[in-house]
Amino acid sequence: MPNTVIIGAQWGDEGKGKLVDMLSEQSDVIVRFQGGNNAGHTILCGDKQTILHLIPSGILHPKARCLIGNGVVLDPFVFLEEVASLGESGIRVDPSRLGISYKTHLILPYHKVMDAARESARTKDKIGTTGRGIGPCYEDKMARVGIRACDLMTPSLVHAKITRALAEKNVLFTHLYGCKPLDPAKVSEDLLAIAPKIIPYLVNVEVELKEAEKKGARILFEGAQGTHLDIDHGTYPFVTSSNTVAANAAIGSGIGANKLTQILGIVKAYTTRVGEGAFPTELFDATGELLQRQGHEFGATTGRKRRCGWLDCVLLRASVCLNGITDIALTKLDVLSGLSTIKVCTAYSYKGEIIPYPPQQENALAEVEPVYEELPGFDGDISGIHTFDALPQAVQAYVRRIEELVAAPVRYISVGPERNQTIVR
Ligand code: GDP
Ligand code: IMO
Ligand code: MG
Repeated sequence: MPNTVIIGAQWGDEGKGKLVDMLSEQSDVIVRFQGGNNAGHTILCGDKQTILHLIPSGILHPKARCLIGNGVVLDPFVFLEEVASLGESGIRVDPSRLGISYKTHLILPYHKVMDAARESARTKDKIGTTGRGIGPCYEDKMARVGIRACDLMTPSLVHAKITRALAEKNVLFTHLYGCKPLDPAKVSEDLLAIAPKIIPYLVNVEVELKEAEKKGARILFEGAQGTHLDIDHGTYPFVTSSNTVAANAAIGSGIGANKLTQILGIVKAYTTRVGEGAFPTELFDATGELLQRQGHEFGATTGRKRRCGWLDCVLLRASVCLNGITDIALTKLDVLSGLSTIKVCTAYSYKGEIIPYPPQQENALAEVEPVYEELPGFDGDISGIHTFDALPQAVQAYVRRIEELVAAPVRYISVGPERNQTIVR
């Protein structure tokens, strides 16, 4: 059985949630392997919209087993809120349906304070984080001072670690950032008060995956964010703090790298970005507004307006290479309806040269000029079309040209937010 990794090929919000939900139907286990509640994955089912931040998008399928891997940073308070809110809409979440790795690092209130303090201390160079404490939590993990989910079973350890963490962080809060210190006793108490609700979810994810594999289960790995937000390969420093590329599905869940057989790159038919950082094909005109309006491009986590621009095949070429993308799901093609021409960026002009891949120096992306090719646009509503051949010629030509430019096959074409608004080729 193929195991599929779903990753975003751009700067996030490509429609990963929709594809995970759709493919969950044929999957037994769905695993989140990185990021945290900076993600916002939207699923539309009939007139019911669900936005998931932490819990895998497979949860809407009653038979699927969902797992949160060691690579995720989990805010335990947000997790319980999400469980409760799913419960209110009739989706039962309990340890029989969902497991959390013992090794998952926890986001605590001081990570959020640090995130906000760092952002407000920056002047022109703000990153535009989601403010969810993601970066500071990963920092603590790397500094080997993080609190992990398994620690909840040992209250004295939680207390000792939090006391030590705050001894350092409170100095920064009060002396550098001018904010209030946090009381370690209160932070520990609040966390330990909810520990009994989290502990029943703890599982050994790698063993569970191994057992599932033995039974021939199909495993789906749900990526968050996008390739160009990757901490190593993204537009550093305007990135998130985890590896978002497909290979991290192995590390972030504890499965062997040879078990990742299909890498499905989700590509929006144009480009969007939330937060700061270079964006070569960004549009500041009526076309950009049309994409923003027709695509309802507002962040699913922070509600911020998403910046919009033409499809950038230079970034996508890099994404195919960085992830080993075997198939593409092209989403939101319906949004391009009404444009007389569609531009696609095929290369960059940089310091007098034409380059097919992004330049490597910090912020060099801000200095490139996109080289565009123009393709004919199309009109009318394509959201009810179910076969590739029935799509307008201009849409078919656009899809084929993308395949040539990025050297990967487009397997799924999404023409609307609903599960069934998807063409399988
Ligand atoms: P994710 O973070 O990658 O899961 O994406 P988001 O959920 O943040 O943003 C994608 C948005 O586009 C959501 O509101 C989806 O419901 C919507 N969407 C997904 N695919 C399509 C599509 O093909 N057409 C349209 N019009 N909307 C889509
Ligand atoms: P999904 O999974 C789009 C962006 C933030 C900011 C940068 C760093 O829904 O695609 P962070 O809070 O992670 O430290 O912020 O990353 N960002 C996202 N942009 N979609 C996301 O997730 C994102 N998660 C983080 O806007 O620019
Ligand atoms: Mg999103």
